[in-house]
Amino acid sequence: MGDAGAAPQTVPGDRCIPGGAGGMRRTAPERDEPGASAGPGRTGAGGVRIGWASMTWLITGGAGYIGAHVARAMAEAGERVVALDDLSAGVPSRLPEGIPLVQGSSLDGDLLKRVLAEHAVTGVVHLAARKQVGESVAQPTRYYQENVGGLATLLDAAAGAGVRRFLFSSSAAVYGNPDVDLITEDTPCAPMSPYGETKLAGEWLVRAAGRAHGIATVCLRYFNVAGAAAPELADTGVFNVIPMVFDRLTRDEAPRIFGDDYPTPDGTCVRDYIHVADLAEAHLAAARRLTGDVSGDLTVNIGRGEGVSVRELVTLIGEISGDDRAPVVEPRRPGDAPRAVASAGLAARELGWTARRGVREMVESAWEGWVHHHPRTPSE
Ligand SMILES: NC(=O)c1ccc[n+]([C@@H]2O[C@H](COP(=O)([O-])OP(=O)(O)OC[C@H]3O[C@@H](n4cnc5c(N)ncnc54)[C@H](O)[C@@H]3O)[C@@H](O)[C@H]2O)c1
Repeated sequence: MGDAGAAPQTVPGDRCIPGGAGGMRRTAPERDEPGASAGPGRTGAGGVRIGWASMTWLITGGAGYIGAHVARAMAEAGERVVALDDLSAGVPSRLPEGIPLVQGSSLDGDLLKRVLAEHAVTGVVHLAARKQVGESVAQPTRYYQENVGGLATLLDAAAGAGVRRFLFSSSAAVYGNPDVDLITEDTPCAPMSPYGETKLAGEWLVRAAGRAHGIATVCLRYFNVAGAAAPELADTGVFNVIPMVFDRLTRDEAPRIFGDDYPTPDGTCVRDYIHVADLAEAHLAAARRLTGDVSGDLTVNIGRGEGVSVRELVTLIGEISGDDRAPVVEPRRPGDAPRAVASAGLAARELGWTARRGVREMVESAWEGWVHHHPRTPSE
């Protein structure tokens, strides 16, 4: 994990730029001056369209699951992007050719200043964070240091570099366990883990720094992210329900459902799943909003506004994977909310964005990604 001040290292691959002093080189197109209009763009070696927009976006956590989708979507739409990632969980090959990757930590203020200056960054999309709820319970200081400390360091560097647009990756975890049908942005926040607390504290910090330094900010509260735009971009972690079920099936074990006696239609927990490609488009919509002459802050849910039960999801996974063995029901897990579904209206009104992809598409693409990363041997 990227400790503060640790010397950034070069990793194999010619697109990865060491973050150390003097080690930086530019592989992105030369920058237009702010205010220049978007041009026709060109196609990079990886087939990604590189545009000549007036903004250059730094995407922290850009080699991560969501960050790589965001980087790709923004580059394809003609935005100029540079990625920063400490590679604690990131994979450089997720980024297409043409997007420079700086290896380093959001805790390294000197590195951030150099990256912001050398790439003439005008906006930041901050996704880099630790994200495991259970780990955050065991290691709260590490989570606060990485997620809040790293954010403070980044905001300082951004303000000092004259960056005036900042997009922060928040989470439905800020709400905790509200007893409402649809969670609106006005639903009181009561996070139930240090992870959720760091996201809520992060939002406060983003808004306060925005007010202090004249930075326009957007906080996106993602609900349950799933799927992949391409198999190689799939989430390789086994922390969410869909990969957890895949993992059980791959081990020749029945999927587990934790609790079927909740006050929901089929007794299992209900969640709002959002395709990662839709989420990436939401970032693009937010970036475009920030690029306009917008000031102030916006905090918005990113979900579909539709609930899917765990049992419905497991049934769909059985259908798509061809392994429809019956799930086993185990006791409830502490802290699981019966229902967490977004009100998606504000995102539609403020960003002009709504999700386009359904749960079947999420599970199909996630399964293709799982098979890509876990190829079966002929004897299996
Ligand atoms: N995946 C979800 O369902 C979900 C839901 C809500 C919010 N989020 C948030 O979205 C963001 C991205 O999540 P993800 O699922 O892509 O996770 P991920 O672990 O795949 O990506 C995070 C990336 O950040 C990098 N990173 C971590 N700490 C860093 C640091 N201090 N400096 C530089 N790089 C660092 C990691 O190497 C990784 O590539 C996180 O902020 C997470 O909290 C994710």
